[in-house]
Parts: sequence; C-alpha cells; structure tokens
Amino acid sequence: MTALPSRVHFNEVVARDGLQNEARFVPTADKIALVDALSDCGFARIEVTAFVSPKAIPPLADAQEVMQGIRRQTGVCYAVLVPNARGAARALEARADALNFVMSASESHNQSNLRMPRERSLAALAEVLAVTAGQAEVQVSISTAFGCPMEGAVDAQEVLRLAARIAGLGAGAVRALTLCDTTGMAHPAQVTQLVALLRARLPQLALTLHFHDTRGMALANMLAGLQAGVTRFDAALGGLGGCPYAPGASGNACTEDAVHMFAAMGLDTGVDLARLLPVSRRLPELVGHAIHSQVARAGPLHTRHPAPAHLA
Ligand code: COA
Ligand code: ZN
Repeated sequence: MTALPSRVHFNEVVARDGLQNEARFVPTADKIALVDALSDCGFARIEVTAFVSPKAIPPLADAQEVMQGIRRQTGVCYAVLVPNARGAARALEARADALNFVMSASESHNQSNLRMPRERSLAALAEVLAVTAGQAEVQVSISTAFGCPMEGAVDAQEVLRLAARIAGLGAGAVRALTLCDTTGMAHPAQVTQLVALLRARLPQLALTLHFHDTRGMALANMLAGLQAGVTRFDAALGGLGGCPYAPGASGNACTEDAVHMFAAMGLDTGVDLARLLPVSRRLPELVGHAIHSQVARAGPLHTRHPAPAHLA
C-alpha cells in the first residue's frame, strides 16, 4: 500500500446538506450562530447555504440573510450550492468565496432534484461560469455518482464522460469535482475504482468525496478514498443531511466521527475536535431530534471511565 496522505481537508456541509432535509425550520439567527461556531473549529471550507428556489428547499429560504449575517474567519472558504445562473448571481452578490454547482450522474435524479435534463444542467453550468467570470471558484458536485435510488447502478464510464464534459467547459474553468453518494449506495471497492479511473483520466480535477451513511458504509468509503489518494472530504456535523428529492436518502458522513477516525490514525485534519464536540452536542436542540454521532455520544477514544465497583 502506498503511504497515506498526512493532511486532509474537511468541507463542513451541515448548514446546507444537513439543514435542507430538516422538517423544522431552523431560525436564521441560529443558522448564523452555527456557522460562526464552525468557523472557529478549523475547517478548510464551510458550505453555508444554497441559492436555490425557496419553493424547492424551504428550509434554506433565508440563504441571503445567513450569508449576510455570518462572521468571516480568515483562511476559511465560504461556499454555497447553486443549480443555475440565477443562483450564481445571488451567490456573487452575497460574496460567496466558492460556488458548488450541483447536477446528477443519473437522468432521473437530475429531473427529480433540479427539474431539468442533464443536458440543460450542463448548459446552466456554462452560464454559471460566464456569470461568475473568475470572481469565485466554481466546483461541481455530481450527485448519484455511485448509484441512483431510482435507476440503480450508475456506470463509472458514465460518470467519467460527464466529468470530462464538465472539465471541458469554459476553457477548463472547473478544476474541482465532488463525487456524491447521494443515498449511501457506494462501497469501498467501488470508491477505489472510481477514484482511480478519474485520477488517471482527468488528473487536472481535484477530487472531493461526499458520502451518506444510509447503509453504514460512509467511514469505510472515506478510508478507501484516502487510500486512493483523496485528501478532501465533505461531511456534516451530527451526520445530518440528505436530499429531499432522492427517495430513501438519509444523513451524511458524520464530521466528528470522521475527524476522530483520521486524527486517531495520526492525520492532520485541521479540525479541533474538542471545540467541535460541544457544537455537535447542541444540534439535537436545534433540529428537535437525536443525532447519529458515535463520538459525540461516546467521547473521543481516550475518554476514561471509572472502573466498575466490583474492582475496588
Ligand atoms: N434562486 C432563487 N430562486 C430561483 C432560483 C434560484 N437559483 N432559480 C429559480 N428560482 C425561482 C424562479 O424565479 C421561480 O420563481 P417564481 O415561481 O416565484 O416565479 C421558481 O424558482 C421556479 O423557477 P424555474 O426556473 O421554473 O425552476 P424550476 O421550478 O424548474 O426548478 C430549480 C428548477 C433548479 C430552480 C429547482 O429545482 C431548485 O432550486 N432545485 C434545487 C434542489 C436542491 O437544492 N436539492 C438539494 C441539494 S442536492
Ligand atoms: Zn449530500
């Protein structure tokens, strides 16, 4: 096995992917306080919100106010999700550092989530690049890259073809791609193969991996990605998240569990787990239900417990 990278970068997506799937509207001031708390935890990047149709995603209808209200920490890249040129214009007005353009590998999920065919999304991406004109980084997230809940398996060659089209737009303006496992269909061997394929054929694209833990494979998939040379990961605090237009979707890879695993392995994540855990422990009150964080519940691995009474 080749040597593992020593540094990984986390993109914290709880404020976007996490909250987009919540039934209860989280008040704007609480969203701002959440992002501000995350800004102090050492993340390379924070996905703050989404400039999408407020009818499509009511929980993030306050995107503009949230972007206006957050405190910008030097060194943190503040990103937003956009599906079209309208979103890009709103994102630039809100001074987003980076735009995360989203489309799907499968036709059915593109139609369900974005109400347009993939070809139209590719045209929208060209429009986004024109509107942005280098004022912010444009990264592309490919949803259902490891499988589609409506179509089933998604061929790796199809993902490669789409990625090549994306890389060819705007004279190579897109330099970063996120492969998203929207409904937790990816498994580690598949991650190894898809990452190897894309790294070999499109080495100009920096890859980020975005997993959902729907079937308990998110951490294993992140490890497979790391072993395949990926150093950028999306994850959501408390394992919140999911796409409301992907049937069967559930929460993201849990940030604190992933940070804890990489840190235990001796990797530098940049993230201060001791600062992050109190933020995670406030989430249940914010969203009104329990969260699926193992480390928030158990404490980090060096947590000591008193010995059982019969040993005394
Ligand atoms: N920001 C805000 N409003 C937008 C918008 C944007 N980026 N894009 C479109 N709209 C508005 C339009 O102005 C229109 O408003 P109106 O009904 O008041 O006139 C409405 O949304 C519908 O616009 P239309 O262009 O007809 O879009 P659509 O209904 O075909 O939906 C999308 C297309 C892409 C806008 C919508 O499906 C969407 O926002 N999807 C995002 C889904 C998502 O975020 N999923 C989770 C992340 S993976
Ligand atoms: Zn997601």
